[in-house]
Amino acid sequence: MKSVNVAIIGSGVVGSAYINQLKNLTSSIGFKVIYLARSSKEALFSKDYSPVDLSTYKSAASQPVLSLSDLNEFLKNSGKPTILVDNTSNETIANFYPNFIKSGISIATPNKKAFSSDISVWNEIFESSKTGGLVGHEATVGAGLPIIEPLNDLVLTGDKIDKIEGIFSGTLSYIFNEFSTTDGSNNTKFSDVVKVAKDLGYTEPDPRDDLNGLDVARKVTILARISGLNVESPTSFPVESLIPKALESVESADEFMEKLPNFDDEIQKIKDEAFAENKVLRFVGSVDLKTNKASVGIAKYGFDHPFASLKGSDNVVSIKSERYPNPLVIQGAGAGAEVTAHGVLADTIKIAQRIAI
Ligand SMILES: NC(=O)c1ccc[n+]([C@@H]2O[C@H](COP(=O)([O-])OP(=O)(O)OC[C@H]3O[C@@H](n4cnc5c(N)ncnc54)[C@H](OP(=O)(O)O)[C@@H]3O)[C@@H](O)[C@H]2O)c1
Ligand SMILES: *[C@@H]1O[C@H](CO)[C@@H](O)[C@H](O)[C@H]1NC(C)=O
Ligand SMILES: *[C@@H]1O[C@H](CO)[C@@H](O)[C@H](O)[C@H]1NC(C)=O
Ligand SMILES: *[C@@H]1O[C@H](CO)[C@@H](O)[C@H](O)[C@H]1NC(C)=O
Ligand SMILES: *[C@@H]1O[C@H](CO)[C@@H](O)[C@H](O)[C@H]1NC(C)=O
Repeated sequence: MKSVNVAIIGSGVVGSAYINQLKNLTSSIGFKVIYLARSSKEALFSKDYSPVDLSTYKSAASQPVLSLSDLNEFLKNSGKPTILVDNTSNETIANFYPNFIKSGISIATPNKKAFSSDISVWNEIFESSKTGGLVGHEATVGAGLPIIEPLNDLVLTGDKIDKIEGIFSGTLSYIFNEFSTTDGSNNTKFSDVVKVAKDLGYTEPDPRDDLNGLDVARKVTILARISGLNVESPTSFPVESLIPKALESVESADEFMEKLPNFDDEIQKIKDEAFAENKVLRFVGSVDLKTNKASVGIAKYGFDHPFASLKGSDNVVSIKSERYPNPLVIQGAGAGAEVTAHGVLADTIKIAQRIAI
């Protein structure tokens, strides 16, 4: 039986779901977990590379985590092709990917940082990947939705992308789907919807971390780069923030929530104007390859547009290309532990099919 070694960093929401799916896997390839960082402090591994028991990892005796350079050495010398699964959102780990890849270690990850920061990191990752380890990052956009691979396939086979548009934040999808509806039930105030989303745990602890648009800008950066628009960084194109200027610097999330209702009128007016034109508001990211521009912000869509009928916290992306003048539309859950973990595990399996011995 062919096999690969697997090293996992992080066992939070996504990481735990990943480990459970991996445990249940029936595959013709063996996956041997030789390193598991349960948190930023503790890890399970042994010097002789004996496998970590996934049925007891939560309580098993641990050691301090290896530094990134020690982990690189440890994995490089394991004697088997190795896949590193980074299930954190840590930028230092992301910036270290080129070193792992140059050592022949492959990466499967939902961590957006490496792919959406400075273009130099992106270039270094894919340059070193030509001769080193492989890279799978499907879950960095739309969680488990198939977006990165189909887009890559179009580009690799010579299609020309015209435009990509999408709703890439589960949180902002929910907020706008509730706030701006086709049936005109417009008595819901923006600040009330944000409060409900926060109470349901859909937002970050400080909702400003969703409302600033940066997470969407990171996803747009990744899709732009795959399509051939080499955006410099997620702050190098226009990103509309939904945080009122006056509330950008208030100290606490509580104070922000308390004062947000004072700013309802402005966005209510935009919504009412859109409704009068039979349109809804949505928070979208877009990449236009005709004008070479990327942007993130509020846009209006007619009641019959696919974005207008979005439900819950679903994501949607529309890809218009030479071959798909009627856009290819991909829609579904764009957040959640199980779907994110399956995106990462599918990448792990695809890499293993190519490198297992
Ligand atoms: N949740 C989703 O729906 C979703 C969807 C798409 C993409 N993602 C992405 O998936 C990634 C993971 O998300 P999550 O929600 O699962 O995050 P999380 O719950 O915060 O989990 C992160 C885990 O990684 C560990 N960790 C952090 N830094 C570490 C380090 N330096 N070394 C070793 N372990 C470390 C944390 O341990 P400590 O407790 O010690 O910090 C924790 O176990 C993120 O990049 C996120 O953006 C998530
Ligand atoms: C994976 O990362 C996500 C997001 O940072 C986190 O919620 C989850 O707990 C992580 N899972 C593991 C196993 O680290
Ligand atoms: C794994 O399999 C067990 C037993 O069949 C099942 O109860 C569990 O839900 C499965 N877990 C996952 C994550 O698929
Ligand atoms: C990121 O990971 C590195 C290496 O494990 C660690 O030293 C650093 O403290 C982490 N940073 C954050 C913000 O968690
Ligand atoms: C929405 O509510 C405002 C204020 O209550 C009202 O002026 C406007 O006509 C309403 N718009 C729609 C489309 O119902």
